[in-house]
Amino acid sequence: MAALLVSTAALVEGHAAGPFGDLGDPHLNVIPRTAEEAARIADVTALATDFSAPQRFEEKSGGAATVRAMTNADAFSQPSGNIRFEDQLDFRVGNGLFRKLWVSSPSSTLASDGLGPLFNARSCQRCHIKDGRGHPPETPEDNAISMFLRVSIPGPADAAIADIKDYIATLPEPNYGLQMQDFAVQGHAAEYRLDIVYEEETVVLADGTEVSLRHPQYTAADLAYGPLHPQAMLSPRVAPQMIGLGLLETIPAADILKNADPDDLDGDGISGRPNVIWSVEYERPMLGRFGLKAGSPTIKEQSAAAFAGDIGISSPLFPAGAGECTPAQALCENAIHGDGDERGTEIDAEGMELVTFYSRNLAVPARRAVADAQVLRGKEVFYNTGCTACHTPSYVTHRLEDRPEQSFQLIWPYTDVLLHDMGPGLADNRPEARATGQEWRTPPLWGIGLTKQVSGHTYFLHDGRARSLLEAVLWHGGEALGQRDTVINLPTADRDALIAYLESL
Ligand code: HEC
Ligand code: HEC
Repeated sequence: MAALLVSTAALVEGHAAGPFGDLGDPHLNVIPRTAEEAARIADVTALATDFSAPQRFEEKSGGAATVRAMTNADAFSQPSGNIRFEDQLDFRVGNGLFRKLWVSSPSSTLASDGLGPLFNARSCQRCHIKDGRGHPPETPEDNAISMFLRVSIPGPADAAIADIKDYIATLPEPNYGLQMQDFAVQGHAAEYRLDIVYEEETVVLADGTEVSLRHPQYTAADLAYGPLHPQAMLSPRVAPQMIGLGLLETIPAADILKNADPDDLDGDGISGRPNVIWSVEYERPMLGRFGLKAGSPTIKEQSAAAFAGDIGISSPLFPAGAGECTPAQALCENAIHGDGDERGTEIDAEGMELVTFYSRNLAVPARRAVADAQVLRGKEVFYNTGCTACHTPSYVTHRLEDRPEQSFQLIWPYTDVLLHDMGPGLADNRPEARATGQEWRTPPLWGIGLTKQVSGHTYFLHDGRARSLLEAVLWHGGEALGQRDTVINLPTADRDALIAYLESL
């Protein structure tokens, strides 16, 4: 990480600043900051150095959009705290679409058909359970409903996007596409069954504590449409939590890019690279913010891709009625779709807007116990260990004319929204746009302490392999090896304080 200005031109050759600003913030009505505001923002977002008391507004992780932390499983399901009364209905209707169980075509249930033919789940909520994160299967019999495998093969150079520097060329797997679906509607075969085997490894910490890390091995079993390509690359992904996404979308791209240090010029061992992808929505390269490798530029595009890939529902952005079927899956491509009625696509533009509005406005709960002595000590450990080199604590969002909930908020997501090489242990070895097979996007840590309460488990990381916050930290490698080693060597009380701090986020 460094306070280094990366010019967009270096990343995206041939694309000068377009109508969406540098690299394209995904919205149009930004009110530019004054120099005086910029200076004030630099001041309030500077890293803390005094740990004797909480910082001002630190407990309000989502700014004015923060809600009080409920003590039940609904803690991630509240609308932005500052949502306008007249917009609450849109949030509720969007929630309905997020929970809606899609059915196969043809069906007498009007406007709910079009499922599949291949799919991973029948609703968004089935994976983003209680608007929180999913989990790997608990037992071998448990079907893998809240995680899936992405798949691709290495591509020839001309499959790269010439405008985007360092774009890694890949192609869909010829038989299975870009994602493996483990369900299909009647009359069609599901593509595969996900097999996971874990092998335990014991790590001994400096104070003698033993922690077991489970190494997963993924196999696509029971393949129904022929063998996988010999060079197929599989990437396991558990559904992430849904809170605060609208706020992440409205962090100025320039504020994310200024933390990038692709060549580690400041020599701290930490690079931080932006992902840049082709936006279907804006038809131009854009900064990736969403997805576990930052492979998607906007909430709307990610949501439309989820409708297509995960549920098999077409939308104006991804109009193919057959969802993720490949030309090698003829029966699937020729199946009856649900788009023959006045919807046009299986979910129409208005439905997409409502789901997007919902996804944008799931509120971040307030922190708990910010002023507790152990939590403050844990915060000091977090900052002094250098966790903040990637888990950037705070930002101020754009001032926006048309998104009052997200406009000009001081937020605390604890992410730089950049890619980091996390070492071979966490690697999926499947590149995605500019992200290499060892890189992942730093995930936001806000709300992470409520995982157990919302999701009933404490599985962390991209594939849910970590069974506790401590295991998640001990899996850090690559650029974060130094931070992991510091944690291994912490005195017991400091390690406990670090975990107490994470629990308070
Ligand atoms: C089969 C499980 C599954 C279903 C169903 C599903 N998702 Fe997801 N969702 C995921 C996974 C896995 C990711 C991470 C994707 C990636 O890394 O590319 C994700 C990521 C997201 C993100 C980005 C979150 C972030 O932190 O970057 C959004 C927004 C999202 N999903 C919305 C939706 C919507 C809306 C639906 C319903 C149309 C939906 N999802 C259905 C599994 C699912
Ligand atoms: C080099 C950048 C970097 C540093 C430094 C770093 N992290 Fe991370 N952190 C990441 C990335 C990237 C992931 C996601 C890895 C994955 O899913 O495989 C992650 C994941 C996590 C998770 C799990 C989040 C989730 O939603 O599952 C926790 C908890 C966490 N980090 C805490 C810490 C703590 C505590 C420190 C300091 C000791 C730290 N991190 C240092 C980049 C970093």
